[in-house]
Formats: sequence, C-alpha cells, structure tokens
Amino acid sequence: MAGITDGKFCSELAPQGFDMVTIGGYNADERTINAGRMIIRRGRAEFNIPETELINHIKQQIIIIKDQTDWNGKVSVNIRATTPEPIIEISKLNGVDVVEINAHCQQPEIVDLKCGQALLMEPDLLNKFTEKVVKNSACKVSVKIRANTPNTDIITISKIVEESGADFLHVDAVKPGYKNADYKVISSIKENTDIFLIGNNYIHDIESARKMISAGADGISMARCLKSGIIPFDLSLI
Ligand SMILES: Cc1cc2nc3c(=O)[nH]c(=O)nc-3n(C[C@H](O)[C@H](O)[C@H](O)COP(=O)(O)O)c2cc1C
Repeated sequence: MAGITDGKFCSELAPQGFDMVTIGGYNADERTINAGRMIIRRGRAEFNIPETELINHIKQQIIIIKDQTDWNGKVSVNIRATTPEPIIEISKLNGVDVVEINAHCQQPEIVDLKCGQALLMEPDLLNKFTEKVVKNSACKVSVKIRANTPNTDIITISKIVEESGADFLHVDAVKPGYKNADYKVISSIKENTDIFLIGNNYIHDIESARKMISAGADGISMARCLKSGIIPFDLSLI
C-alpha cells in the first residue's frame, strides 16, 4: 500500500506469520515520481522519494525488515516505472528477493504514463516489459494485475505474464461493487496457467482465506485488513 507499507510497517507484521512482505509501491523514475506528487496534491498517500534517494531508501527498508528482526521470510518490492530499467536496478540490491511490476495502479496520473493498470490494456507492451525485467533481474519477478478491468482479458494477460517468464502472478481479484473477491477469476486463471498464483482482495478472516485457496490460489496476500498492524486471524489455521 503506497505511503503505508514501508520497512517499519512490514517489520512489525512479518513475524506474525508471513512468508513474504511487500514494500511500496514505489514510483521509480522521474515521470512516475512526478505523477506521485500530483496524486499527493489531491490528497492520496504515496511514498514521495526523490529518484536519487530511492535506492538508499529501499536498502534501509530491507535492513529494518531483515536485520532488525528474527524473521527469515522474503521481501518483495512493488514498483511503478515507465521503463524496466529502474526495476532491474532494484532487483540487484542485497536482500531484495522479488521485484513486483505494478500493472495494477489505477490512479489516472500513473495510467496516463502507460504505467500501472495501463499495461493491462497493452498486452504487447506488458509482454516486452516483463520479458526484459525477467531477463535482466537478479531476483524473482512478480507481476501484480487487477481483475475486471474494462476492455481487458485477464486470461490473455495471465498467459502473457506466464510466457514472459515471471515467477509469480499476483491478482487483485476485485469484484466491483462487492465486499468479496471474484473467486471465479482466480479459478479461471488457475485452469489456464501453471504460474504460481497469489490471490488478493478482501481476505480478512479464515473463511475468505480458505475460499481463495480453494478457488486455486497457491498463496494469498492481504492489504487493508492489516492497516492496524495486527493480522485479524490465525494464519496457521488456513
Ligand atoms: C491505500 C492503498 C494503497 C495501495 N497502494 C498499492 C500499491 O502501491 N501497489 C499495489 O500493487 N497495490 C496497492 N494497493 C492495493 C492493495 O495492495 C490490494 O491489492 C487491494 O487493497 C485489495 O486487497 P485488500 O482487500 O486485502 O486490501 C493499495 C491499496 C490501498 C488501500
């Protein structure tokens, strides 16, 4: 969650039972950083880190999570960028286990840059972008996508992500107007791909977590229900 999930936030949650935590999303080049500043001006939280300070900032967050806790899990970095290069650079940092290409953000300032969710509408661009990150990265690669985005075909997108060589497909299975995930989308992606599938959206109790796994997700992720800093249910019971 932009503006929220930094090293301190994740270091407090990680030892409560997570295998992986995600910091960011970070805006990683001049154009996305400027877009982030416009988003802040209209009142939405973002990490506002200058381009020259981003690498050092991420290194510090990794130290807070990995060196200042007894936790042995993985750290992923969710990144918005208009080109693959900043993502590749971040993949080479010590302690970064996964770089996550953000093909999910729907903020207009980011979408206008053909970034975030706009990548879902440009399958060829998503393919080339992901392939380049995969080919040049020093760590695993995840792609975060959003379900039920108008004018997109999530199965085609999922296959492209898999064929591009990414290690994880992270799906926000949002079902507009509902307070539950679109579990059918998860099942359908599972039937059509073999990529490791992380299911996300409205997981807030054991029942919703189990439904996501039953639908076909290999792993689950949570965001809003963790804002208090405490996991609202016992992950070991899933
Ligand atoms: C305030 C806020 C900021 C978010 N920022 C990001 C982001 O930077 N990158 C991203 O991939 N998802 C972002 N998300 C989406 C969440 O990671 C998650 O996909 C979404 O909230 C649905 O999951 P949930 O129901 O568990 O919250 C954000 C969500 C919120 C509420």
